[in-house]
Amino acid sequence: MNNIESVVKSRHSVRSYKDQKIEGEVLEELQKEIQKCSEESGLNIKLVLNEEKAFGKTHYGSFDNCKNYVVIMGEKNRKDLDEASGYYGEKIVLKAQEIGLNTCWTKLTYNKAEVPCTLNENEKISIVIAIGYGKVKGTNHKSKEFSAVSKTIENVPDWYKKGVEFALYAPTALNQQKFKFELKENDEVSLKTAGLGLCTKIDLGIVKYHFELGAGLDNFKWSE
Ligand SMILES: Cc1cc2nc3c(=O)[nH]c(=O)nc-3n(C[C@H](O)[C@H](O)[C@H](O)COP(=O)(O)O)c2cc1C
Repeated sequence: MNNIESVVKSRHSVRSYKDQKIEGEVLEELQKEIQKCSEESGLNIKLVLNEEKAFGKTHYGSFDNCKNYVVIMGEKNRKDLDEASGYYGEKIVLKAQEIGLNTCWTKLTYNKAEVPCTLNENEKISIVIAIGYGKVKGTNHKSKEFSAVSKTIENVPDWYKKGVEFALYAPTALNQQKFKFELKENDEVSLKTAGLGLCTKIDLGIVKYHFELGAGLDNFKWSE
């Protein structure tokens, strides 16, 4: 298993955190990745440290001691806001995992009103990622089979198999894994998600990034 594979396979949602602060080199690396993702994506991504209210216990009980989080903000009318948030957010999630931190994507179970970020005009919070040193490391989610998420099943190249395998390790809202890949002619790959759920397009961006990591960008092209 190479490094990125072990990072992808060891990432699980963690909702319970130690008091240990994010600081020193780990903080520097995390900030660097956030900065890079902000610049590449045009999203406004901020790290909030040592803030207890957004995941405070009274209302948002599923989280324990979460005091750090990444806030992803973007233009309200940007068409690909959710997909880009998923794609770049997952880059940050996997970088965090690589440097010893744990994470959990959160659309609903935090208190938006307590997030101390100033939104620019026409901007909204697209999603938040809880981050810190987990008291636990999480466990594997229940996963669909290859054949349930790939229209193409027979005679597929190894890179495609690996891409789908990585996608099955991706976090999705409520672990729904409502995505379908298809291998088309000329090494083109299509990825579609079913339904219009609140997080469908965020999931799409996350899953897309996982597939690219597994398959290798040199091996295929996304089809429209
Ligand atoms: C877009 C998105 C939104 C999510 N929102 C929440 C949330 O509001 N609260 C929560 O506890 N978990 C949330 N999750 C975490 C999922 O429940 C979790 O990723 C899924 O069950 C798979 O488990 P895993 O991340 O451990 O692989 C969210 C995940 C994604 C990708």
